[in-house]
Amino acid sequence: MIWFRRVLLAVLATALSTHATYADDATLSFVRRHCVECHGDKKQAGGVRLDGLTGDMSNDGPRWMTAAEQVRRGLMPPEDAKQPSATAKTEFVNSVRHELAVRTQRKPNLGNLVAHELLFEKAAASNAQATEATAPRLWRLSPDAYSAWVNDVACGTPKGVVQPFSAGAERGVQDFAQLARVDEPAAEILLRNALTIVKQQTRHDIVDGKVQAKNDTVREFTDLMSPTAMPTREQLLKALSKQFRLALGREPDEADVAHLLKFYERCASGGDRPGAVTTMLTAVLLRSDVIFRSEFGGPDGMLTPREVANAISVTLCNRRDEALRKAVDLGQLVTREQIAEHVRRILDDPKIAKPRLLGFFRDYFEYHKAVEVFKDEPKDLWHRPDQAVRDTDRLVLHLIAEDEDLFRRMLTTPLAFANVKMSIDKATRKEVMKRSLIPNAHNQRGKSVPEELYGLKEWTDQQPFAQPANTRLGLLMQPSWLIAWSENFHTDIVRRGRFIRERLLGGTVPDLPIGVAAMVPNDRTHTLRERVSSVTRAESCWKCHQHMDDLGLPFENFDHYGRLLDQDWVLDAEATAKNVDYKGKPKGDVLRGVPLDTAGLISGTDDPKLDGPLKDPREFVTRLANSDRCRQVWIRHIFRYYLGRNETLADAPSLQAADRAYVGSNRSYKALLVSLLTSDSFLKRGPQR
Ligand code: HEC
Ligand code: HEC
Repeated sequence: MIWFRRVLLAVLATALSTHATYADDATLSFVRRHCVECHGDKKQAGGVRLDGLTGDMSNDGPRWMTAAEQVRRGLMPPEDAKQPSATAKTEFVNSVRHELAVRTQRKPNLGNLVAHELLFEKAAASNAQATEATAPRLWRLSPDAYSAWVNDVACGTPKGVVQPFSAGAERGVQDFAQLARVDEPAAEILLRNALTIVKQQTRHDIVDGKVQAKNDTVREFTDLMSPTAMPTREQLLKALSKQFRLALGREPDEADVAHLLKFYERCASGGDRPGAVTTMLTAVLLRSDVIFRSEFGGPDGMLTPREVANAISVTLCNRRDEALRKAVDLGQLVTREQIAEHVRRILDDPKIAKPRLLGFFRDYFEYHKAVEVFKDEPKDLWHRPDQAVRDTDRLVLHLIAEDEDLFRRMLTTPLAFANVKMSIDKATRKEVMKRSLIPNAHNQRGKSVPEELYGLKEWTDQQPFAQPANTRLGLLMQPSWLIAWSENFHTDIVRRGRFIRERLLGGTVPDLPIGVAAMVPNDRTHTLRERVSSVTRAESCWKCHQHMDDLGLPFENFDHYGRLLDQDWVLDAEATAKNVDYKGKPKGDVLRGVPLDTAGLISGTDDPKLDGPLKDPREFVTRLANSDRCRQVWIRHIFRYYLGRNETLADAPSLQAADRAYVGSNRSYKALLVSLLTSDSFLKRGPQR
């Protein structure tokens, strides 16, 4: 077993070496020459220090980005200061942008550092440089894909199998290829899981010296479990072939066979033949091509047909697709048209489960995190975030299935599902819609039920239904999203604003610096809007918060349980003080209604169609939904999810093609995905950097 571990770890070690990269001297010396006199140790104009800036763009990325932006907009150095030549400025901006585009590829949530217009302007496509194509890479299975794999190989998930991998990023797109490492503890778990799986595959009793296989085992394996019989070569080959097909979806080649048979011989020389068989079968499950999907590309620089089959099926389904497997053998995954045909087939076939379609929307909106935000249940509401998440899942699946103008509809649809679950009707064997949570005296007692959140007075199986006018539109007003983007006791204006800035406007906000006292004052005699503004409008805070707060404010139309408000509530200090019993003991807080303010502002996008004040969240999402730029930013996120990395300048043609495919197909999401999964970015591998 120790031997296995060594082999496995050696494979992983080569796969996981990382590259650190640095800005070239020219950009650093530009900053030293033209900026540091006002932004250095003696003077920190505007509270900005640039002398500590390192050449490491992947760590210092946001600061480099701000510096380059100031220069690009002609704001820095200030007019009255000594100016670098126009060429020097342009070169600086371009080289920072270029470096950022290359260096931040691998880190989640830094994708927006690549300026939007560099990717979507017409000229961008021709500027693309071949050296920036995706390097050959290995991409570890995601936690979900690993679970699916175990389930397939072991005919169900055996007890004792543990998830070895954790999700990658704390927010946003989780599964980035470069983050998906296998560390030593994970390798250990993989090894134990493999042993458990083979044990399950070979479960048997020995009765009168004969093997009796248990249910859900693999015949080819249990046949070899007799302690006395000598497995024939043919039997061993059959077993190997079966295990390869289960684990990898292909037959072993000659080298695999020779290697594993030799391995078997060595183990069997001790006399324990069944033990040697299980060890050999375990070895197959520990191959690196089980744990990693390889994307090395063939001699022509394109992924090989087998790599394509793997990539497409794991990308959409989390597991290997049988028809793609066969297509490889038939030589049918060579041209782009052939690949597109298979992508379309998978997308069109409702019988093929495609958890990764929903997966993108969960990573992008993060509404599923509603279940992680603890909230006391109020007296008048049956608070069930888990159901809110299920209802949003269903809405997303509905919109994907309809495939009409998905971007606009996900932001502005009046449709919703409320308190729904699907179940199979025993008589007709058809799927029917049922009320999911059914109130009873114990759990309800005068509380409003989940469907009332969406404006439904009475539950109906005619869903989705249109919510009343002027209430909720789209996913950003689904209770699940509003709950997820709240804290325990109030909504989260700042992070909601950050969400809009990053995921829809394509902007960036520098991380909250360590050591800043980021506390919302607890004085509940003021609205949250007032309390947040009272601290973040200070100059040193506003330079970051101007990019967030105004974008989060319109959602103050709802409380942190996702309930629609018609007025805001604050603590009435005077009435609370008077609210005492006859002994003078306080009887609790008294609230006072105040007029609701849902105004907000989009600023700093350079897009006159976007920038400007807003009166409420409905006007807000409608403006976002009609914006080409916002749609393209959404596509950039789709790219990140399905390619497991950030986009670079070289991806401009693929991104533009995906956008054109969407717009030109009457806004079909399927067309967008077909375009993306057949793009050079997906299929082509450049030289190793
Ligand atoms: C002669 C002094 C001077 C020089 C040289 C100078 N700056 Fe500034 N910088 C300022 C002052 C003053 C402010 C604050 C007021 C403002 O934003 O206009 C500032 C603000 C900034 C900010 C913050 C802007 C914001 O909106 O928060 C950045 C970033 C910045 N400078 C970058 C640079 C870079 C990059 C260079 C070199 C190319 C540079 N500065 C050169 C004086 C200078
Ligand atoms: C360099 C940028 C930056 C500066 C400067 C900054 N913030 Fe923030 N702040 C952020 C970001 C980014 C977040 C959101 C953090 C997240 O997403 O978890 C945040 C979040 C907050 C929050 C909400 C946090 C919570 O837990 O509810 C408050 C309140 C806040 N900041 C107050 C301040 C105050 C007060 C200052 C000035 C003293 C300040 N910030 C300065 C970037 C900044």
